[in-house]
Amino acid sequence: MSATRKSKKKSTPEAVYRFPHRHLLGIEGLSAEEIELILDLADSYVEQNRQPNKKSDVLRGRTLINLFFEDSTRTRTSFELAGKRLGADVINMSVSTSSIKKGETLMDTAMTLNAMHPDVLCVRHGDSGAVKLLSEKVNCAVVNGGDGTHEHPTQALLDAQTIRRRKGKIAGLTVAICGDILHSRVARSNMHLLSTMGARVRLVAPPTLLPAAVDRYGVEVFNNIKDGIAGCDIVMMLRLQQERMKGMFVPSIREYFHFFGLTAEKLAFAKPDALVMHPGPMNRGVEIDSELADDIDRSLIREQVEMGVAVRMACFDLLTRDNPGNEP
Ligand code: ASP
Ligand code: CP
Repeated sequence: MSATRKSKKKSTPEAVYRFPHRHLLGIEGLSAEEIELILDLADSYVEQNRQPNKKSDVLRGRTLINLFFEDSTRTRTSFELAGKRLGADVINMSVSTSSIKKGETLMDTAMTLNAMHPDVLCVRHGDSGAVKLLSEKVNCAVVNGGDGTHEHPTQALLDAQTIRRRKGKIAGLTVAICGDILHSRVARSNMHLLSTMGARVRLVAPPTLLPAAVDRYGVEVFNNIKDGIAGCDIVMMLRLQQERMKGMFVPSIREYFHFFGLTAEKLAFAKPDALVMHPGPMNRGVEIDSELADDIDRSLIREQVEMGVAVRMACFDLLTRDNPGNEP
């Protein structure tokens, strides 16, 4: 599929009908075919991003606004870069210096920005469901950059692209998602995506860091990391989301690292060619051993960041086409 598009009218008709969504709010509800469409298109953007001239005019004349109510390094900068590489005008709204500080509500802020006719609004918010609520008030496409403990769809897509490029497939692989599952939107989006694409998903965490209804997720659950990663193809580590915790969820960081932190010794229980992933930001020595995180033969962490830009370019491209589903 071509990564360049001269005008809205020249969209690939096939892609138009295969991605009939106005927003990207979550992975839940996307079909395997739609996920594959995003990943295939992202592959062409990986190539574009590796050229000296990284720019195209797919989004020329379009406006993208980043609205982040929670801190971010990777997601916010890659949304910005993705928009710029496609030729869009990109505005980063700083919540800390905005009129939200004067008491303006999320909905009034959304409606104010909407009046400026953006084409895409990328939003991160601390409350699960807040991005969907906002999407109901605006005329443009909304991309969820992470909402509370609910979903982080572009993260799961970039993880999938990283896995697919390194392992050649997703279906049939065994993926262990380890750590703070309870508070992780990355875990939730990945569970949806990996199950939809035919991977076997395992969750590995102490009982205190697992959701109450975990048996309804249709995944295997382990409280011991060595058993949980035994025979796995991919080991995905998660940060302890201290900012979402009220009270103590682990006895101590030292003990947590001892039992649940990924080390080369524990990774030896996985397949010999198993690869390690982490969405970032990492807390070295808490959920992952520092040397292992930097081991380029085992760790995909830097590749995940690279894929993040390409996947977000693919999402913007598809969401701004003349889709039947994305008409205002
Ligand atoms: N950056 C990811 C998120 O925002 C993971 C994390 O913060 O631990 O969900
Ligand atoms: N992985 C991720 O979402 O990172 P940031 O929180 O830095 O955006």
